[in-house]
Amino acid sequence: MVGLGYVGAVAAVALAHSGHEVLGVDVDREKVAAFQQGICPFHEPELPGLLSSGLAAGRLRFQHPQEVTVPLGEIILVAVGTPSRPYGGTDLSQVRAAIQWVRQRRPGPAVLVMKSTVPPGTGRRLVDEELAGTGLRYVANPEFLREGQAVRDWFHPDRIVIGGEDEEAIDLVKKMFAGIKAPVLVTGITSAEMIKYAANAFLATKISFINEVAGLCARVGADIDEVAYGIGLDPRIGPSFLRAGLGYGGSCFPKDVRALEFCSAVNGYNFELLRAVINVNNRQRLLPLQALRRVFGTVKGVKVALLGLTFKPGTDDLREAPALDIGRLLIEEGAEVRAYDPQVAAGNGHPLLPGEIDLRTSALEALQGVQAAVLVTEWPEFCELPWEQVVQIMVSPRLIFDGRNALDGRKLIELGFRYQGVGRGGA
Ligand code: UGA
Repeated sequence: MVGLGYVGAVAAVALAHSGHEVLGVDVDREKVAAFQQGICPFHEPELPGLLSSGLAAGRLRFQHPQEVTVPLGEIILVAVGTPSRPYGGTDLSQVRAAIQWVRQRRPGPAVLVMKSTVPPGTGRRLVDEELAGTGLRYVANPEFLREGQAVRDWFHPDRIVIGGEDEEAIDLVKKMFAGIKAPVLVTGITSAEMIKYAANAFLATKISFINEVAGLCARVGADIDEVAYGIGLDPRIGPSFLRAGLGYGGSCFPKDVRALEFCSAVNGYNFELLRAVINVNNRQRLLPLQALRRVFGTVKGVKVALLGLTFKPGTDDLREAPALDIGRLLIEEGAEVRAYDPQVAAGNGHPLLPGEIDLRTSALEALQGVQAAVLVTEWPEFCELPWEQVVQIMVSPRLIFDGRNALDGRKLIELGFRYQGVGRGGA
């Protein structure tokens, strides 16, 4: 397994758990050292346990690429990063470096399985240009796991997509997944790549759609929770991904939607819907600032607490998290911003977090003496806060902007807070 980010680490550990012998490599020496010692360098439930048992069973090893001396094996999986370039394209340099590393090691007739999310057409080009004459057969095998429930998703996927042309290679990848019950879909390489992008883009579209509806609900006096429930009962629509709020973040949706839009543009196609999805998502991040301005006139000097920083609960990941933009916007307008997140330690700050955000060690500490609070990430502990106590420690007007519609607004108003949700009236 080349690349030990979320996908690579989970796949490596899970494959070892299924009985395969797995070698995980990564250019990040610290990460490799952590995995060697059985320490998972990021928060992912269930992963530490499987990591320890894989190491103890001797089926799982980790090495820096320069130290690898053993043969690479029958299946070489690539799960390196494919970050966005500033203009929206995809930076494939890590994929190219991984393939070059594999080629230099002159593997036998192996199957190269691409788990990284690469733009449609990439695999075809790699097969024609970089893998020709190497004996490496190529299979695209996109990954659909979610951070925070990645191990569960690995063992219980909705589907396994195998994009390839070589029957033997496809069969070997099917064997790799033996024991996992899921429909296996064999497609062309480019279709497999497209399935990954289209799936993420569709889910992002659902989120932006419900956020658009929420914007209108607020104006006509409808309630987005009731509306989302009402439309979600239609099985053609379904209830999931209809939670209105501050929009999507993370290492996947923002990057993948931008990349698909860019891929459309370079192929001479105007994918209009995606532009709207991106614009709506960007706009959602302005809601807290707009709500505060409505109440305070200006946010200059206003003390604001951000509850939650990660892009969703259950992870310690801050990549493209709405909290980063929300915090920056408030700071630029002169607010005094403090924050608390159960997974982001106070003290040394965080490389992705603006230094001006004052990180606190508990929600109550962050809320002490503030005029306004923004719920950015719906961690369960925020829903269970002792609000009777919070109303005593916050100062007037005690504005709660519920960016995830996770709180009981009516109860908060009764307690003496000023409450605003997204599309729940007033926002
Ligand atoms: C997402 C996909 O769900 C996975 O299937 C995919 O494999 C992964 O990206 C990837 O491409 O690697 P993930 O980034 O872990 O997984 O996060 P999600 O749970 O899908 O949530 C994404 C964002 O959407 C979060 O910021 C969440 O708060 C937001 N969201 C989700 C909403 O705003 N409303 C909703 O109704 C659902």
